[in-house]
Amino acid sequence: MKPSQAPFPATRFRRTRQNAQIRALVQENTLTTGDLIWPVFLRDGADVCEPVSSMPGVNRLSVDNVVKAAREAADLGIPAICLFPYTDPAKKTEDCAEAWNPDNLSNTATRAIKDAGIEIAVMTDVALDPYNSLGHDGFVVDGKIPNDETVEALVKQALSQARAGADIIGPSDMMDSRIGSIRTALESEGFKDVMLLSYAAKYASAFYGPFRDAVGASGALKGDKTTYQMNPANSNEALRLVERDLREGADMVMVKPGMPYLDICRRVKDAFGAPTYAYQVSGEYAMIAGAAQNGWIDGQKAMLESLMCFKRAGCDGVLTYFAPQVARILNGA
Ligand code: PBG
Repeated sequence: MKPSQAPFPATRFRRTRQNAQIRALVQENTLTTGDLIWPVFLRDGADVCEPVSSMPGVNRLSVDNVVKAAREAADLGIPAICLFPYTDPAKKTEDCAEAWNPDNLSNTATRAIKDAGIEIAVMTDVALDPYNSLGHDGFVVDGKIPNDETVEALVKQALSQARAGADIIGPSDMMDSRIGSIRTALESEGFKDVMLLSYAAKYASAFYGPFRDAVGASGALKGDKTTYQMNPANSNEALRLVERDLREGADMVMVKPGMPYLDICRRVKDAFGAPTYAYQVSGEYAMIAGAAQNGWIDGQKAMLESLMCFKRAGCDGVLTYFAPQVARILNGA
């Protein structure tokens, strides 16, 4: 900041706030539909649209309905949709084999969206938790999560997603070396253009609660994820993780959760200048949507403000459950 600002009254900051036109002229950041990635929850069946009770306004959709939703999102100008399956408890096992089943719910939905020719990028989630009867993102052996064995499974899962047509693969598991291992496997199968958006700085957060409810993982999870997800007290570690993942072949990186970690977003963007995203997670959504439902805050304004803050913090985009709602507003609807 240059120290040479004229003193009052030569400088009056309120001059440039005096009306909407001037405020628009001096506005530093903008939010556009091109900044949005929309996470959606999948469910087996046909014509299912099942509300997630802890996330007012969010539904689990069957594949036919997710295709419709993807088409609507594309028409709204949303560039990417991110798929999260609710897995039938009968298909959850300790060996997590459903994760790399070519016909699992996530792969079926990816294929359906791609076959429909919808112009939207499909992002998928790499982690074992939706398929693990023990609820963890990796295997559980003697009460521990083995890194290297889990990475082998994650590679199989990622390849099955690439074969189904995923454009962007999002490893959210926080195992070490998974980005490099997945990148090598993708290259060796000829998937040169499949992008990796690494959940590089993912914290062990209480804000994931409603998500675990939405994908039916809350009951299964024993213990917590603190041996693989980051300690909320750390920030230098986030930079080291981002650096590592970029070096291993990530095209884009993510900070998660979003709102409580805007300082991390800013540091990551400033340090690497790579495409940087934040995940405004389920608990953040629930706080805004729940408070709005009770009439305690103006939900629409809080939503727009929260998303603009990600841009101000240096993010290129944000994963948000508000995506279609905010896109409609940005499109003037
Ligand atoms: C798990 C995963 C989680 C989320 C995305 N992928 C939850 C977790 O780590 O337990 C959370 C997203 C949200 O809360 O919206 N691999």
